[in-house]
Amino acid sequence: MAVKSPHGGPVPAQSATAGQNTRLVHAGRQPAAYHGFVNPPIYHGSTVLSPTAQDLLNRTQPYIYGRRGTPTSEALELALKQLEGGTGVVLCPSGLSACHLALLTCLKPGDHLLMTQGCYGPVRHLCDGLLRRLQIKTTYYPPAAGPREIAALLTRRTRAIYIESPNSNTFEVQDVAAISQLAHRQGIAVIADNSWATPLFFRPHEHGVDLSIQAGTKYIAGHSDVMIGSVSASARCWPQLKQLHGDLGLCVGPDDIYLALRGLRTLGVRLREHQRNALTIANWLMQRQEVQTVLYPALEHCAGHQIWLRDFQGASGLLSIVLRPFPPQAIEAFLNALKLFGLGYSWGGFESLAVPFLLDAQGPAALVGKGCTGIRLHIGLEDPADLIADLRAGFSQLSAA
Ligand SMILES: Cc1ncc(COP(=O)(O)O)c(C=O)c1O
Repeated sequence: MAVKSPHGGPVPAQSATAGQNTRLVHAGRQPAAYHGFVNPPIYHGSTVLSPTAQDLLNRTQPYIYGRRGTPTSEALELALKQLEGGTGVVLCPSGLSACHLALLTCLKPGDHLLMTQGCYGPVRHLCDGLLRRLQIKTTYYPPAAGPREIAALLTRRTRAIYIESPNSNTFEVQDVAAISQLAHRQGIAVIADNSWATPLFFRPHEHGVDLSIQAGTKYIAGHSDVMIGSVSASARCWPQLKQLHGDLGLCVGPDDIYLALRGLRTLGVRLREHQRNALTIANWLMQRQEVQTVLYPALEHCAGHQIWLRDFQGASGLLSIVLRPFPPQAIEAFLNALKLFGLGYSWGGFESLAVPFLLDAQGPAALVGKGCTGIRLHIGLEDPADLIADLRAGFSQLSAA
């Protein structure tokens, strides 16, 4: 059965049983509306002209102003909406702005927020800065906390619980459904940053999440050439999200939207390959004597592995290693020796990356304060044998230094 796009155009029918890859290929595409071309045109535009004064005043046209949506932005929103399974999706100029938008959708002065201690650093900065200035108080909870620990931290002012499952850098997985149940009993909204898994490997709304964030910069776009974010809302939060998104004037340039849409079509094959390579490399790293532990939800010893098995359809290419104590110059020698792993922030592109992080603020309790260094690795689409050779060369320099 055909459904209507928000602006009235036809959207290809999606069977309720269509697989994820079928959705990825067809979601949000309307070739008939583009003269048969497979992909939507890139509309560069601010002003939209109306044919008559009546049309202008009554806003009869599907599009009224570039910031409020174009056929290009609508195509990506629709595609993401079908993948996320929520009520609506808005696009943001970066993943971080999507995190901000989701938080401000649920919170007002005087409210209390429960935030995972292992959250993406700039989100913590936002909580301790702007949100505090707005009289919104944040309490951080341990990244592996279950509903019982979360319940103990709720106050009568708690209005939102923010989850990253798995957490940034240390990758603990949480029981999102149980936390959502607890939250909803008390009218508290649940926000989840699902950038690691994407809706392909974890579907937040099916686990009770109200606002599901994607840093589309990562796997959705997938080629390290775009900054973009999205928030998908459940019916309960959609009106507030849509309103605030419009009020803040958030929008994304059409070329970036197009690149994200183009990346999205191949997300399934890329993610499966990231997973295959990451598993190979994680298992190899586990055997290395320089490595204290590997943090990756697909490994049995990792916090929340059983929940990952139950709730996720896969693991992406981002993981961390914790090195045994080495002096800082040895860590630098290791990083400098890497030729295929680039040294850089972000992740989710086709290429492998490495960045060190401190384990003093977060990480498995047994390792904190022991002088270990964490290194986050993004395992890209190179041949795993070459990546292993690169890491082996790095380890030689680590030991030599
Ligand atoms: C978990 C997570 N969420 C959000 C972001 C922010 O995304 P962006 O870089 O697109 O602002 C990042 C960036 O690294 C991230 O790792």
